[in-house]
Amino acid sequence: MQTGGHIAGWRHARAADNALCDAEYFQALGRTAEKGLFDGVFLADYVGYHPVKGAAVFAGLETPKLDPLVVLATIAAATRNIGLIGTASTTYSHPYDVARRFASLDHVSGGRAGWNIVTSTMENEAHNYGFEAHLAHADRYARADEFVAVARKLWDSWQAGAVVADKVSGAYTDPARISAVDHQGEHFRVAGPLTVPRTPQGHPVLVQAGASATGQQFAAANAEVIFTSHPTIFTAQAFRADMHTQLAQFSRSPESLKIMPAVTPVIGRTRSEAEDLKRELDDLIPARIAISKLEGLLGNVDLSGADPDGPLPALPAEALAGENSTRDRVLELSEREMLPIAELARRVAAGRTGHTIVGTAEDIAETLIEWENCGAADGFVISAPFLPGGLEDFVDMVVPILQERGHFRREYEGTTLRENLGLAVPPNGFDADPTSRRRPEIW
Ligand SMILES: Cc1cc2nc3c(=O)[nH]c(=O)nc-3n(C[C@H](O)[C@H](O)[C@H](O)COP(=O)(O)O)c2cc1C
Repeated sequence: MQTGGHIAGWRHARAADNALCDAEYFQALGRTAEKGLFDGVFLADYVGYHPVKGAAVFAGLETPKLDPLVVLATIAAATRNIGLIGTASTTYSHPYDVARRFASLDHVSGGRAGWNIVTSTMENEAHNYGFEAHLAHADRYARADEFVAVARKLWDSWQAGAVVADKVSGAYTDPARISAVDHQGEHFRVAGPLTVPRTPQGHPVLVQAGASATGQQFAAANAEVIFTSHPTIFTAQAFRADMHTQLAQFSRSPESLKIMPAVTPVIGRTRSEAEDLKRELDDLIPARIAISKLEGLLGNVDLSGADPDGPLPALPAEALAGENSTRDRVLELSEREMLPIAELARRVAAGRTGHTIVGTAEDIAETLIEWENCGAADGFVISAPFLPGGLEDFVDMVVPILQERGHFRREYEGTTLRENLGLAVPPNGFDADPTSRRRPEIW
């Protein structure tokens, strides 16, 4: 998140002061992550809010979400190597728009763009786009499948070499290398070509963050990185093994998909300092705000009648209807640890449903190495609880230990996000089958 992974992280003394919307804030974060040789910065995004009980709760719960592509372009200008991964919804945007914006980011960053494909979760997002209700889960994923197929065709609509920019002849393009898309589908009709030439990475890196059975199938078909969230090493191991099985159905190798669980590191010079920091952060979350967050993640249930020190009551049938991986993870956490409502609320507010590691830099490095060695992860989304301080600590204290132990790079392998992640450049469909090339309707 743009203010860090802990819901009250923005209140911490080492969080930026009231500076969550300016270019310098984001550029400094990008530079710090690049100093730590991170593959990329990753911005989650939502185009709306969960409902809350009253303005006072909203005031304490919500921080700004600037358009990720604008923020990433700003970071691109201040960095050289770091990848720039932004979230865009397939439910509340159009493929021409998204394909064009990510292709543009890939060009201006020299091949560093990644698209976190989400299908969105909130009713309010529907209302912001003129719809009465949020699309059903299965319909969202059907639309997402077609959306990504259209985006791929658009990125392929310019072949390599289509820009000749010949000042003498006066030909800017080679039309033989530009194709229409002529997509006529259930959800979209797109003529093409894109207005942006083939990009340095061919396609931006495709990232996915949805965990239901349908979401996993979508990822197995489309994703090159999965941003996932696991409370324990065991669930992460099982998820990764299962995804590898699903990849085989699409004739894909395990190396073509990097699975990256979210980890929230709470770092201290000693364990007791880390525990103090965790307590200090958690004490910054007002109880009613944590419960409001929990209500939203459970599908907008009403917990006002329930005892905060008692167990989570059985949810109403409508809240349990349909697939919703976030809700299911919260319910699993509640059952596995038998947490009272107030504690469950604090836990999800402090790090959603992912894994929080409280300890020294050594403890954190060891846990990450263990997860990697046990096949639980190909990498991690490091969700610093507060920014910039939490990220600076990770870069200054944890990265050197990972490097000493031979578990992290000492320099970037390449200049593009694909090269640094070890992902192949996708072939252009029109190269593979020139007969599929079509004349744009405008000629
Ligand atoms: C780890 C994780 C991160 C997510 N990040 C976002 C996000 O930034 N924006 C968003 O709209 N949805 C986000 N989602 C929601 C999913 O993209 C998806 O739309 C939703 O979870 C429903 O699909 P699912 O049931 O397959 O998970 C995230 C989900 C997970 C599991």
